[in-house]
Amino acid sequence: MNSAKISSVSYYLPERILSNSDIAELFPEWSVEKISAKTGISTRHIAATDEFASDMAVNAAKKLFHENKIDPNDIEYIILSTQTPDYYLPSTACIIQDKLGVPTSSGATDITLGCSGYVYALGLAKGLVESGQVSNVLVLTSDTYSKFINEADKSVRTIFGDAATATLVELDAAGESISGITYGTDGSGAKSLIVPNGGLRKGTAISPRSEPMLRELNSNGYDLYMDGPDIFNFTIKVVPEALGKILTKADVRKDEIDLFVFHQANAFMLDHLRKKLEIEDEKFIVSMSDIGNTVSSTIPIALSKLVEEDKLKPGMTVLLLGFGVGLSWGGMVVKWR
Ligand SMILES: CC(C)(COP(=O)(O)OP(=O)(O)OC[C@H]1O[C@@H](n2cnc3c(N)ncnc32)[C@H](O)[C@@H]1OP(=O)(O)O)[C@@H](O)C(=O)NCCC(=O)NCCS
Repeated sequence: MNSAKISSVSYYLPERILSNSDIAELFPEWSVEKISAKTGISTRHIAATDEFASDMAVNAAKKLFHENKIDPNDIEYIILSTQTPDYYLPSTACIIQDKLGVPTSSGATDITLGCSGYVYALGLAKGLVESGQVSNVLVLTSDTYSKFINEADKSVRTIFGDAATATLVELDAAGESISGITYGTDGSGAKSLIVPNGGLRKGTAISPRSEPMLRELNSNGYDLYMDGPDIFNFTIKVVPEALGKILTKADVRKDEIDLFVFHQANAFMLDHLRKKLEIEDEKFIVSMSDIGNTVSSTIPIALSKLVEEDKLKPGMTVLLLGFGVGLSWGGMVVKWR
Protein backbone atom coordinates (compact mmCIF):
# COMPACT_ATOMS: atom_id res chain seq x y z
CA MET A 1 0.00 0.00 0.00
CA ASN A 2 1.16 3.56 -0.78
CA SER A 3 1.50 5.41 2.54
CA ALA A 4 2.62 8.91 3.29
CA LYS A 5 4.99 9.69 6.15
CA ILE A 6 6.67 12.77 7.58
CA SER A 7 10.33 12.17 6.82
CA SER A 8 11.92 15.40 8.09
CA VAL A 9 11.02 18.76 9.66
CA SER A 10 12.95 22.00 10.06
CA TYR A 11 12.26 25.62 10.91
CA TYR A 12 13.47 29.20 10.56
CA LEU A 13 13.12 32.10 12.99
CA PRO A 14 13.75 35.71 12.01
CA GLU A 15 16.59 37.49 13.81
CA ARG A 16 14.83 40.33 15.64
CA ILE A 17 13.56 39.51 19.11
CA LEU A 18 10.72 41.18 21.00
CA SER A 19 11.06 40.45 24.71
CA ASN A 20 8.65 40.86 27.61
CA SER A 21 10.79 43.72 28.89
CA ASP A 22 10.40 45.51 25.52
CA ILE A 23 6.61 45.14 25.90
CA ALA A 24 6.54 46.02 29.61
CA GLU A 25 8.49 49.20 28.88
CA LEU A 26 5.69 50.36 26.57
CA PHE A 27 2.84 49.11 28.80
CA PRO A 28 3.97 49.52 32.41
CA GLU A 29 0.66 48.06 33.66
CA TRP A 30 1.88 44.63 32.45
CA SER A 31 5.13 43.52 34.09
CA VAL A 32 7.61 41.07 32.53
CA GLU A 33 6.50 38.46 35.08
CA LYS A 34 2.79 39.03 34.47
CA ILE A 35 3.14 38.56 30.70
CA SER A 36 5.17 35.43 31.14
CA ALA A 37 2.80 34.02 33.80
CA LYS A 38 -0.31 34.71 31.68
CA THR A 39 1.00 33.62 28.26
CA GLY A 40 4.00 31.36 28.99
CA ILE A 41 5.97 33.46 26.51
CA SER A 42 9.21 35.38 27.22
CA THR A 43 10.39 36.30 23.73
CA ARG A 44 9.12 36.23 20.14
CA HIS A 45 10.89 36.61 16.81
CA ILE A 46 9.75 39.39 14.47
CA ALA A 47 10.35 39.45 10.70
CA ALA A 48 12.52 42.29 9.38
CA THR A 49 10.79 45.12 7.52
CA ASP A 50 11.89 43.64 4.19
CA GLU A 51 11.29 40.00 5.17
CA PHE A 52 8.08 38.31 4.02
CA ALA A 53 6.46 34.85 3.94
CA SER A 54 8.39 33.60 0.89
CA ASP A 55 11.77 34.72 2.32
CA MET A 56 11.19 32.91 5.60
CA ALA A 57 9.75 29.77 3.97
CA VAL A 58 12.73 29.59 1.59
CA ASN A 59 15.11 29.82 4.56
CA ALA A 60 13.26 27.01 6.34
CA ALA A 61 13.27 24.82 3.19
CA LYS A 62 16.99 25.43 2.53
CA LYS A 63 17.73 24.40 6.12
CA LEU A 64 15.64 21.24 5.66
CA PHE A 65 17.42 20.43 2.37
CA HIS A 66 20.84 21.00 3.93
CA GLU A 67 20.19 19.01 7.13
CA ASN A 68 18.65 16.04 5.29
CA LYS A 69 20.63 16.08 2.01
CA ILE A 70 17.48 16.69 -0.02
CA ASP A 71 17.93 17.76 -3.65
CA PRO A 72 15.39 20.49 -4.61
CA ASN A 73 15.24 18.82 -8.03
CA ASP A 74 13.46 15.86 -6.39
CA ILE A 75 10.54 17.92 -4.98
CA GLU A 76 7.29 17.24 -6.84
CA TYR A 77 4.79 19.51 -5.06
CA ILE A 78 4.86 22.51 -2.70
CA ILE A 79 2.04 23.39 -0.30
CA LEU A 80 2.46 26.63 1.63
CA SER A 81 0.18 27.43 4.55
CA THR A 82 0.15 31.20 5.06
CA GLN A 83 -2.23 34.01 5.89
CA THR A 84 0.38 36.65 5.21
CA PRO A 85 1.25 36.03 1.54
CA ASP A 86 3.77 38.20 -0.32
CA TYR A 87 0.96 39.29 -2.68
CA TYR A 88 -2.77 38.65 -3.18
CA LEU A 89 -1.62 37.11 -6.42
CA PRO A 90 0.42 35.20 -7.53
CA SER A 91 0.47 32.41 -4.93
CA THR A 92 3.50 32.69 -2.68
CA ALA A 93 4.16 28.96 -3.32
CA CYS A 94 4.87 29.81 -6.99
CA ILE A 95 7.47 32.41 -5.94
CA ILE A 96 9.02 29.85 -3.60
CA GLN A 97 9.25 27.20 -6.39
CA ASP A 98 11.46 29.61 -8.32
CA LYS A 99 13.53 30.79 -5.35
CA LEU A 100 14.27 27.19 -4.30
CA GLY A 101 15.03 25.88 -7.79
CA VAL A 102 12.31 23.24 -7.54
CA PRO A 103 11.54 21.86 -11.06
CA THR A 104 8.88 23.61 -13.16
CA SER A 105 7.19 20.20 -13.45
CA SER A 106 6.18 20.48 -9.77
CA GLY A 107 2.81 21.61 -8.41
CA ALA A 108 2.66 24.58 -6.01
CA THR A 109 -0.23 26.09 -4.11
CA ASP A 110 -1.02 28.18 -1.04
CA ILE A 111 -3.61 27.32 1.55
CA THR A 112 -5.02 30.15 3.66
CA LEU A 113 -5.35 28.79 7.16
CA GLY A 114 -3.69 29.83 10.40
CA CYS A 115 -3.34 27.74 13.53
CA SER A 116 -4.87 24.65 11.89
CA GLY A 117 -2.88 25.16 8.64
CA TYR A 118 -0.16 22.60 9.27
CA VAL A 119 -2.52 19.69 9.90
CA TYR A 120 -4.64 20.66 6.88
CA ALA A 121 -1.51 20.84 4.71
CA LEU A 122 -0.43 17.42 5.99
CA GLY A 123 -3.89 16.02 5.18
CA LEU A 124 -3.65 17.36 1.63
CA ALA A 125 -0.09 16.09 1.24
CA LYS A 126 -1.14 12.62 2.38
CA GLY A 127 -3.94 12.66 -0.20
CA LEU A 128 -1.61 13.72 -3.01
CA VAL A 129 0.97 11.06 -2.16
CA GLU A 130 -1.37 8.17 -1.37
CA SER A 131 -3.49 8.76 -4.46
CA GLY A 132 -0.33 8.35 -6.51
CA GLN A 133 -0.33 11.88 -7.96
CA VAL A 134 3.17 12.62 -6.65
CA SER A 135 5.75 10.79 -4.57
CA ASN A 136 6.58 13.70 -2.24
CA VAL A 137 5.29 17.07 -1.04
CA LEU A 138 7.25 19.90 0.54
CA VAL A 139 4.88 21.26 3.18
CA LEU A 140 5.77 24.81 4.21
CA THR A 141 4.28 27.12 6.82
CA SER A 142 5.20 30.79 7.04
CA ASP A 143 3.48 33.67 8.75
CA THR A 144 4.39 37.25 9.60
CA TYR A 145 1.44 38.24 11.80
CA SER A 146 3.66 41.00 13.24
CA LYS A 147 2.97 42.98 10.06
CA PHE A 148 -0.76 42.99 10.95
CA ILE A 149 -0.25 43.81 14.62
CA ASN A 150 -0.98 47.28 15.87
CA GLU A 151 1.94 48.21 18.13
CA ALA A 152 -0.57 49.70 20.58
CA ASP A 153 -2.40 46.37 21.00
CA LYS A 154 -0.59 44.66 23.85
CA SER A 155 -2.96 41.69 23.92
CA VAL A 156 -1.85 40.34 20.54
CA ARG A 157 1.74 41.64 20.70
CA THR A 158 2.37 39.42 23.72
CA ILE A 159 1.13 36.28 21.97
CA PHE A 160 2.19 36.16 18.33
CA GLY A 161 5.65 35.65 16.81
CA ASP A 162 6.84 35.16 13.22
CA ALA A 163 8.37 31.92 11.90
CA ALA A 164 8.48 29.45 9.00
CA THR A 165 8.83 25.68 8.80
CA ALA A 166 9.51 23.02 6.16
CA THR A 167 8.40 19.37 6.28
CA LEU A 168 9.00 16.65 3.71
CA VAL A 169 6.09 14.22 3.27
CA GLU A 170 6.92 11.23 1.12
CA LEU A 171 5.97 7.70 0.18
CA ASP A 172 6.81 4.98 2.63
CA ALA A 173 6.49 1.22 2.33
CA ALA A 174 6.31 0.57 6.09
CA GLY A 175 2.50 0.86 6.40
CA GLU A 176 0.17 3.65 7.41
CA SER A 177 1.91 6.45 9.31
CA ILE A 178 -0.71 9.26 9.32
CA SER A 179 -4.19 8.23 10.47
CA GLY A 180 -7.38 9.40 12.17
CA ILE A 181 -7.45 12.66 10.22
CA THR A 182 -10.28 14.81 11.55
CA TYR A 183 -11.30 18.27 10.35
CA GLY A 184 -13.65 20.91 11.72
CA THR A 185 -14.86 24.35 10.66
CA ASP A 186 -17.17 26.97 12.16
CA GLY A 187 -17.13 30.14 10.09
CA SER A 188 -19.70 31.73 12.40
CA GLY A 189 -16.69 32.56 14.58
CA ALA A 190 -14.78 34.30 11.76
CA LYS A 191 -14.95 37.66 13.55
CA SER A 192 -13.16 36.37 16.66
CA LEU A 193 -9.75 36.46 14.99
CA ILE A 194 -9.63 38.62 11.91
CA VAL A 195 -7.90 41.39 10.01
CA PRO A 196 -11.17 43.25 9.41
CA ASN A 197 -9.78 45.64 6.81
CA GLY A 198 -7.62 43.11 4.96
CA GLY A 199 -8.68 41.63 1.62
CA LEU A 200 -11.15 43.19 -0.75
CA ARG A 201 -14.41 43.19 1.20
CA LYS A 202 -13.37 46.30 3.17
CA GLY A 203 -10.59 47.86 1.12
CA THR A 204 -8.44 50.16 3.23
CA ALA A 205 -9.18 53.36 1.30
CA ILE A 206 -12.91 53.11 1.94
CA SER A 207 -12.72 51.18 5.17
CA PRO A 208 -15.41 51.93 7.72
CA ARG A 209 -14.34 52.08 11.36
CA SER A 210 -13.36 48.57 12.34
CA GLU A 211 -13.52 46.79 15.68
CA PRO A 212 -9.88 47.50 16.56
CA MET A 213 -10.59 51.19 15.99
CA LEU A 214 -13.56 50.97 18.30
CA ARG A 215 -11.08 49.74 20.90
CA GLU A 216 -9.44 53.12 20.28
CA LEU A 217 -6.29 51.74 18.79
CA ASN A 218 -4.57 53.92 16.25
CA SER A 219 -5.51 51.66 13.34
CA ASN A 220 -3.42 51.55 10.18
CA GLY A 221 -6.25 49.71 8.42
CA TYR A 222 -4.75 46.22 8.60
CA ASP A 223 -4.85 45.53 12.32
CA LEU A 224 -5.27 42.03 13.59
CA TYR A 225 -8.24 41.83 15.94
CA MET A 226 -8.52 39.03 18.49
CA ASP A 227 -11.36 38.34 20.89
CA GLY A 228 -9.25 36.34 23.36
CA PRO A 229 -12.08 35.02 25.56
CA ASP A 230 -14.07 33.95 22.48
CA ILE A 231 -11.13 31.97 21.10
CA PHE A 232 -10.58 30.49 24.53
CA ASN A 233 -14.20 29.30 24.81
CA PHE A 234 -14.19 27.90 21.26
CA THR A 235 -11.02 25.94 21.93
CA ILE A 236 -12.16 24.53 25.25
CA LYS A 237 -15.30 23.28 23.47
CA VAL A 238 -13.97 21.84 20.19
CA VAL A 239 -10.59 20.39 21.19
CA PRO A 240 -11.92 17.66 23.54
CA GLU A 241 -14.50 16.61 20.91
CA ALA A 242 -11.86 16.57 18.15
CA LEU A 243 -9.44 14.58 20.29
CA GLY A 244 -12.09 11.88 20.84
CA LYS A 245 -12.84 11.68 17.11
CA ILE A 246 -9.17 11.45 16.13
CA LEU A 247 -8.55 8.59 18.55
CA THR A 248 -11.66 6.72 17.38
CA LYS A 249 -10.84 7.17 13.68
CA ALA A 250 -7.22 6.13 14.21
CA ASP A 251 -8.34 3.22 16.41
CA VAL A 252 -5.82 4.20 19.07
CA ARG A 253 -6.37 4.53 22.83
CA LYS A 254 -5.43 7.79 24.57
CA ASP A 255 -2.89 5.93 26.71
CA GLU A 256 -1.18 4.65 23.54
CA ILE A 257 -0.26 8.22 22.52
CA ASP A 258 3.34 9.01 23.51
CA LEU A 259 3.20 12.77 22.87
CA PHE A 260 0.38 15.26 22.40
CA VAL A 261 1.56 18.13 20.20
CA PHE A 262 -1.20 20.74 20.07
CA HIS A 263 -1.12 24.15 18.45
CA GLN A 264 0.91 26.33 20.81
CA ALA A 265 -1.67 29.09 21.27
CA ASN A 266 -0.59 30.30 24.71
CA ALA A 267 0.43 28.48 27.86
CA PHE A 268 -2.64 29.64 29.83
CA MET A 269 -4.96 27.95 27.34
CA LEU A 270 -2.76 24.85 26.90
CA ASP A 271 -2.74 24.37 30.66
CA HIS A 272 -6.56 24.48 30.77
CA LEU A 273 -6.75 21.98 27.92
CA ARG A 274 -4.26 19.60 29.47
CA LYS A 275 -6.15 19.54 32.77
CA LYS A 276 -9.55 19.20 31.10
CA LEU A 277 -8.30 16.32 28.92
CA GLU A 278 -6.45 14.68 31.82
CA ILE A 279 -3.21 14.29 29.91
CA GLU A 280 0.00 13.67 31.87
CA ASP A 281 2.33 16.65 32.02
CA GLU A 282 5.30 14.78 30.49
CA LYS A 283 3.29 13.71 27.41
CA PHE A 284 1.82 17.16 26.76
CA ILE A 285 4.15 19.45 24.85
CA VAL A 286 4.41 23.14 25.73
CA SER A 287 7.12 24.57 23.52
CA MET A 288 6.67 28.28 23.01
CA SER A 289 8.43 30.33 25.69
CA ASP A 290 11.12 31.63 23.32
CA ILE A 291 9.03 31.93 20.14
CA GLY A 292 5.42 32.69 21.09
CA ASN A 293 2.43 31.62 19.03
CA THR A 294 3.81 31.28 15.50
CA VAL A 295 0.39 30.40 13.98
CA SER A 296 0.73 27.60 11.38
CA SER A 297 4.34 26.96 12.45
CA THR A 298 3.83 26.03 16.12
CA ILE A 299 3.26 22.28 15.61
CA PRO A 300 6.15 21.65 13.17
CA ILE A 301 8.54 23.75 15.31
CA ALA A 302 7.56 21.69 18.37
CA LEU A 303 8.13 18.46 16.38
CA SER A 304 11.49 19.65 15.11
CA LYS A 305 12.63 20.65 18.63
CA LEU A 306 11.49 17.28 20.01
CA VAL A 307 13.59 15.50 17.35
CA GLU A 308 16.59 17.76 18.11
CA GLU A 309 16.25 16.96 21.81
CA ASP A 310 15.93 13.22 21.07
CA LYS A 311 12.48 13.13 22.71
CA LEU A 312 10.68 12.10 19.52
CA LYS A 313 12.05 8.85 18.12
CA PRO A 314 11.02 6.39 15.40
CA GLY A 315 8.22 4.10 16.59
CA MET A 316 6.60 6.73 18.82
CA THR A 317 2.96 7.75 18.35
CA VAL A 318 2.16 11.47 18.31
CA LEU A 319 -1.19 13.21 18.25
CA LEU A 320 -1.24 16.55 16.41
CA LEU A 321 -4.12 19.01 16.89
CA GLY A 322 -4.39 22.51 15.43
CA PHE A 323 -7.16 25.04 16.16
CA GLY A 324 -7.85 28.73 15.77
CA VAL A 325 -8.60 31.38 13.16
CA GLY A 326 -11.44 30.47 10.80
CA LEU A 327 -12.63 29.14 13.08
CA SER A 328 -10.93 25.96 11.97
CA TRP A 329 -9.50 22.87 13.61
CA GLY A 330 -8.04 19.53 12.66
CA GLY A 331 -5.80 16.76 13.85
CA MET A 332 -4.31 13.34 13.28
CA VAL A 333 -2.25 10.55 14.76
CA VAL A 334 1.28 10.16 13.39
CA LYS A 335 3.42 7.05 13.79
CA TRP A 336 6.88 8.60 13.74
CA ARG A 337 9.27 6.91 11.30
C1 LIG B 1 -5.74 36.09 25.85
C2 LIG B 1 -6.06 35.39 27.14
C3 LIG B 1 -4.78 34.73 27.70
C4 LIG B 1 -6.54 36.40 28.16
O1 LIG B 1 -6.90 35.71 29.35
P1 LIG B 1 -8.17 36.15 30.20
O2 LIG B 1 -8.11 35.48 31.51
O3 LIG B 1 -9.36 36.01 29.32
O4 LIG B 1 -7.79 37.66 30.38
P2 LIG B 1 -8.66 38.82 30.95
O5 LIG B 1 -8.78 39.82 29.86
O6 LIG B 1 -9.90 38.36 31.66
O7 LIG B 1 -7.64 39.35 32.01
C5 LIG B 1 -7.29 38.62 33.21
C6 LIG B 1 -5.98 39.19 33.72
O8 LIG B 1 -4.89 38.80 32.87
C7 LIG B 1 -4.24 39.92 32.33
N1 LIG B 1 -3.85 39.59 30.97
C8 LIG B 1 -4.64 39.30 29.94
N2 LIG B 1 -3.92 39.04 28.86
C9 LIG B 1 -2.63 39.17 29.24
C10 LIG B 1 -1.40 39.05 28.56
N3 LIG B 1 -1.35 38.72 27.27
N4 LIG B 1 -0.26 39.26 29.25
C11 LIG B 1 -0.31 39.60 30.55
N5 LIG B 1 -1.43 39.73 31.25
C12 LIG B 1 -2.58 39.52 30.59
C13 LIG B 1 -5.25 41.05 32.42
O9 LIG B 1 -4.60 42.29 32.48
C14 LIG B 1 -5.96 40.71 33.69
O10 LIG B 1 -5.17 41.10 34.80
P3 LIG B 1 -5.81 41.53 36.22
O11 LIG B 1 -6.47 40.28 36.75
O12 LIG B 1 -4.62 41.95 37.02
O13 LIG B 1 -6.77 42.63 35.90
C15 LIG B 1 -7.20 34.33 27.00
O14 LIG B 1 -8.40 34.97 26.68
C16 LIG B 1 -6.85 33.31 25.98
O15 LIG B 1 -6.06 32.42 26.23
N6 LIG B 1 -7.45 33.42 24.79
C17 LIG B 1 -7.10 32.67 23.65
C18 LIG B 1 -6.20 33.53 22.80
C19 LIG B 1 -5.32 32.74 21.90
O16 LIG B 1 -4.71 31.76 22.29
N7 LIG B 1 -5.22 33.18 20.68
C20 LIG B 1 -4.44 32.55 19.72
C21 LIG B 1 -5.32 32.04 18.66
S1 LIG B 1 -4.98 30.42 18.23
